[in-house]
Amino acid sequence: MNIAIVGTGYVGLVSGACFADTGANVTCVDVDINKIERLKKGEIPIYEPGLDELVLKNVKAGRLKFTSSLPEVLNEQEIVFSAVGTPPDEDGSADLKYVLQVAKTIGQNLNKYLVVVTKSTVPVGTARKVRATIQEELDKRGVDVAFDVASNPEFLKEGNAIKDFMSPDRVVVGIESERAKNILTRLYKPFLINNFRVIFMDIPSAEMTKYASNSMLATRISFMNDIANLCECVGADVNMVRQGIGSDTRIGRKFLYAGCGYGGSCFPKDVKALIKTADDCGYSMEVLKAVEHVNEKQKSILFHKLQAAYNGESLKGKTIALWGLSFKPETDDMRESTALVIIKLLKEAGCTIRAFDPVAMDECRRRVGDNVIYCRDKYEAVFHADALLLLTEWKEFRLPSWDVVGSAMNKKLIIDGRNIFDPEELAEAGFEYHCIGR
Ligand code: UDX
Repeated sequence: MNIAIVGTGYVGLVSGACFADTGANVTCVDVDINKIERLKKGEIPIYEPGLDELVLKNVKAGRLKFTSSLPEVLNEQEIVFSAVGTPPDEDGSADLKYVLQVAKTIGQNLNKYLVVVTKSTVPVGTARKVRATIQEELDKRGVDVAFDVASNPEFLKEGNAIKDFMSPDRVVVGIESERAKNILTRLYKPFLINNFRVIFMDIPSAEMTKYASNSMLATRISFMNDIANLCECVGADVNMVRQGIGSDTRIGRKFLYAGCGYGGSCFPKDVKALIKTADDCGYSMEVLKAVEHVNEKQKSILFHKLQAAYNGESLKGKTIALWGLSFKPETDDMRESTALVIIKLLKEAGCTIRAFDPVAMDECRRRVGDNVIYCRDKYEAVFHADALLLLTEWKEFRLPSWDVVGSAMNKKLIIDGRNIFDPEELAEAGFEYHCIGR
């Protein structure tokens, strides 16, 4: 089966490598010629565990190719996936210019039946626009070929993307014809050994499913953060509450961790976009507006805890250590990360910031430049620090030597934004310790 994937970003590259691994002949397409040249040399532009090996293996096997020209390969394909970016524009709605550009190129060059599948997260109604754009270009050329559009939203988690792709809980596919359904069923057949479900539905429902899923997950997090903040007021422990409520199978155990807010490329963007979609329809998403509001507040909570630990005294001239910069472990991605909010607040307060992250240091330098002292490891970051703020729960932060940390710090103060440390152990080691909801 020949398929092309347009857009070699996160979703495109992971999907391309994984489909190739199941035996499909995959061509990954990107307008960025530099990126394509680098990929051809085996240089992977993103950090994702296992992706390098998977790409190399399938390139060697001849099943995975890269090109910067969609027209050159278009008419060899049965399916073209569009996985280009949909950055939010100022009002929070997804900008469809790249998605529609791909549709235009397809319409300008298509000579035989094709299924055009949108994998990017796009608002309800986008498939209809893609169809209209392709048709318009075909009409201009006076060409009469049949084609189908489909929607196949992606539920990959960064850092776990390959596993998520290879053994997903479910695959959601929005289709408009039996012909497209048969082709996509064939594509996903190799995954059936893993016993997962392909759920076929109409296209608007598939488009909506992606936003509703991410919004539901974001809602759980903001809800738990709200509960955690209340736990602090009443003297309850959010960890206990989480276990208590999570063992109700209707609620489930996952995604109930209180912390210093959610970030990343998906939750913040998708929550905003769904609020905007609703606003455009004259409907107001009250729950989601609150979810967003709680999250914004939660991202600065560690700064307020730091202020409180210093009894409101000025933080000017204090040295603050940060452990973790990415929006979550196993990625260098800092989009919407809590670290960006905290760095800004600490800078405004006149603090010196010493930071360490296992992989996101270059990304941080690119974003905030010299506002931060970049340290070689976690211990160097706490040198002479007046407090340590834990922002991302990387594994290597979980079991530090408290002796080393304590003797390096000016003041033995730890504020843990992900609840990964043991309060008793830290008290024994002589630290003042604050966390979220405990
Ligand atoms: C998410 C969805 O999980 C995925 O299905 C979708 O396709 C893209 O968006 P991702 O953004 O990679 O994936 O990360 P995820 O692991 O879901 O975490 C998102 C954020 O929520 C992180 O900042 C994380 O720290 C936070 N989080 C997660 C919590 O604060 N508490 C939790 O219980 C879980």
